[in-house]
Amino acid sequence: MKLAIGGLQWGDEGKGKVIDYLARDFDVDARFQGGTNAGHTVHYKNQKVIFHLIPSGLLNENCVGVIGAGCVFDPAVFFNELAALKKYASDVDNRIKISRFCHLIMPYHILIDKIREETKQGLGTTRKGIGPAYEDKYARVGIRLGDLFTPELFKGKLRTNLSRKNLMLMEIYHAEPLSDSEIYEQYLAYAERLRPMVVDDSRVLAEAVKNNKNILFEGAQGTMLDIDFGTYPYVTSSHTLCGSASIGLGVAPRYIDSVLGITKAYTTRVGFGPFPTESETGLGEQLRNDGQEYGSTTGRPRRCGPFDASVVKYSARLNGVTEICLTKFDVLKNLEKIKIAVGYTNAKDFDPFIADQLEPVYEEIKGFKTDISKIRTFDELPSEAREYVSLVEHYTGLTVKYISVGPERDAMIIR
Ligand code: GDP
Ligand code: IMO
Ligand code: MG
Repeated sequence: MKLAIGGLQWGDEGKGKVIDYLARDFDVDARFQGGTNAGHTVHYKNQKVIFHLIPSGLLNENCVGVIGAGCVFDPAVFFNELAALKKYASDVDNRIKISRFCHLIMPYHILIDKIREETKQGLGTTRKGIGPAYEDKYARVGIRLGDLFTPELFKGKLRTNLSRKNLMLMEIYHAEPLSDSEIYEQYLAYAERLRPMVVDDSRVLAEAVKNNKNILFEGAQGTMLDIDFGTYPYVTSSHTLCGSASIGLGVAPRYIDSVLGITKAYTTRVGFGPFPTESETGLGEQLRNDGQEYGSTTGRPRRCGPFDASVVKYSARLNGVTEICLTKFDVLKNLEKIKIAVGYTNAKDFDPFIADQLEPVYEEIKGFKTDISKIRTFDELPSEAREYVSLVEHYTGLTVKYISVGPERDAMIIR
């Protein structure tokens, strides 16, 4: 089985929870894009573990993690995350492989991201240096993990980059320049620690395919944050669609058997940009409270609102999704009435070009008003909850295969 998993909204759909749940049946969990902007939460033995770079399935001890070429890699964050994870999985460093093709997030990327966010042009990024790192990659001046193992080459690339970045920092942003010797020493020390984990990811994946291993392709962010098909310019800097699993790991598309889409039973977004069903008061505040909607990476309050069937339908098409996992269903337990956006008054389908003008049309059903977090079969759900799932299926045209009813691994209903 080769399964890709992706978010169908604006990120934070609960991908981490679902991947941790499914990974018991997989030999490999491979991240194909994004970087430390991701925050994938897993509840494990009553603790909250947040994965930023390391694939979220690795608490399953038979699972090997790959960080693919399509990712941008920040060694400092990686080592912090690894240290935290080793408390739960002491052998985890033997199960992580990192592509030598990954572009590195350098201290100047983070600084530039932060400075830009403080100006009026800010997009509400995670300030982890993601945009600036991908900019250098596509400008063909980036530094790759594999470059660190040829110190003279690395030194030259770092010098050239820093001379340009320092000029930009001083002349445009009126900030202090950075020293190349400090960064050089720091990154060479990282390289020595990383050496045993660095691989050619496409070869690792080819070997796994050859040996008929089960492979899970882990997407970060969500379709609405895709650089091309999302709500541009309020997007991230990578291709978040599951199609990028192929390019981001060097695996031919024919080796991906199916795609599972993850969507919340409502909608959230963190950062700026259009969000047709956003509710800034009442309902939005209640969802934020009941769903503990605060960013896993930045702690920012998430913007909340009802489920938007047209958004999920749009995303499902782009990812080739026919089955979805509906997460955080338990969060709706306090609502007297549950609203679902079934279309727009001024457009037939979701269109990112006019996302800021879309006027949702809602249908409303009675809330289920009970704690469903201990329920494990569909038939045991209250009839109103089952009706809501039917509405989601009707208006998205998708099958709800899994329903997550709590953050813990076993809080899942399979249909
Ligand atoms: P990701 O980025 O898609 O992995 O999602 P995040 O981890 O950023 O955000 C999802 C949040 O919801 C985390 O705090 C999860 O622990 C939590 N969560 C996931 N699934 C459920 C669920 O079914 N019910 C509840 N109440 N919380 C959930
Ligand atoms: P996971 O994988 C939610 C958002 C940021 C901002 C925009 C650009 O946890 O679902 P960036 O730092 O990527 O340049 O920010 O994208 N964003 C996310 N929102 N979940 C994420 O990841 C996100 N990663 C980036 O808030 O609006
Ligand atoms: Mg997240």
